[in-house]
Amino acid sequence: MKKYSDMTLAERQTEYAAVKAAFEAKKTLGLQLNMARGKPGTDQLDMVTEMCNILVTHDDFVSDGIDSRNYGNVDGLPAAKKLFAELLGCKPAQVFVGGNASLQLMFTMIAMAYSHGLLHSEKPWKELEKVKWLCPAPGYDRHFKVSQYFGMELLTVPMTADGPDMDLVEELVKDPAVKGIWNVPKYSNPEGVVYSDETIRRMAALKPAAPDFMLMWDNAYCIHEFDCEFVPFADILALCEENGNADMVYEFASTSKVTFPGAGVGVMAASEANLAYVKPLINIQTIGFDKINQLRHVKYLQDKEHTLALMKRHAAILSPKFHAVLSALDAEIAPLGIADWKRPVGGYFVSLDAMPGTAKRTLALCKEAGVTMTGAGATFPYGIDPNDSNIRIAPTMPPVAELEQAIAVLCLCLRMSALEKLGI
Ligand SMILES: Cc1ncc(COP(=O)(O)O)c(C=O)c1O
Repeated sequence: MKKYSDMTLAERQTEYAAVKAAFEAKKTLGLQLNMARGKPGTDQLDMVTEMCNILVTHDDFVSDGIDSRNYGNVDGLPAAKKLFAELLGCKPAQVFVGGNASLQLMFTMIAMAYSHGLLHSEKPWKELEKVKWLCPAPGYDRHFKVSQYFGMELLTVPMTADGPDMDLVEELVKDPAVKGIWNVPKYSNPEGVVYSDETIRRMAALKPAAPDFMLMWDNAYCIHEFDCEFVPFADILALCEENGNADMVYEFASTSKVTFPGAGVGVMAASEANLAYVKPLINIQTIGFDKINQLRHVKYLQDKEHTLALMKRHAAILSPKFHAVLSALDAEIAPLGIADWKRPVGGYFVSLDAMPGTAKRTLALCKEAGVTMTGAGATFPYGIDPNDSNIRIAPTMPPVAELEQAIAVLCLCLRMSALEKLGI
């Protein structure tokens, strides 16, 4: 197969006619496939549903003398703090165990910065003329939406193979209006990038002009290897402390992709001083989070070793799905030279860069053929991809057979939009 850019106009026209015919044939199948969001598959959910039966007797509900069924312990059960501290590699006293989702904790912390200010704020952010925020991109759309919700000015920082462009980050934090940065340091959403040791070291050593700068460390995929052994990861809290930045960092994680998304447990890890500041403020919005669910998770996941064993079982389900996507792209798209993609070994996504100027068109074609994908641009601040190129593939939810159909459609749509762009 020839590269599209090497084809003559006549060759492209012939190719387009063939690809379009295949596309029209797909359309007649009335497909309804979805590769839009990073959700576990039903088989993964079925695998962990036994967790729901774990608490039965009176004694089951009591943990360290605390009755999980009653009010109290707004920062979580001690046993849950211990479990998540072990998973994140920090101290139990640095862990705040919250409700069903980590995004809510991230939102809460930023809302707090606006309404009251943080531990080292000179004033609440609502009183500031401008708040700017660093957004490594491609990145997680919901992070960007939180920043937008609060009216921040979003500054794009390009992602590299080692994490965000640190030269730029170090430069931008000299502006006191820059109040924070989003990070997904391990198996980033959507690229699956693992921050290098050097990037992590430089993040921990940042010297922002803002005294209340927030290093948002969303470790959503900290134990989510699907194609390799568990990769140990630096304790960002300890590194920040070593650099005199103990109160700069807020780490987040959850069991959304370990047990149940939306019904798991979200956690935040931060310095003890930060938690002492935050706890009474969060206690205004809730007397306590769902400790029954926390205890269910403690009993089901047990400890790091046991949790990693469960993640291996998830990996056995997920790995063939990622391989199905990558094999199709390798076979159908690589020889044509019309897109690049990453080869993640963990996380929940494959990030593909289509020929510039073709992402929107590709996804519109996918929709026409019954394949729903994450909207073009979603992985960039304000939902605008300056190159109209990045496409996020979420292969985890559909069964492999459906996924193979969906990716075949995507490949046809990539080909059509590239040919249209080159001229037909
Ligand atoms: C990077 C990242 N952070 C957070 C979340 C959401 O986590 P939670 O369900 O704990 O709110 C996701 C979900 O896709 C994610 O990709």
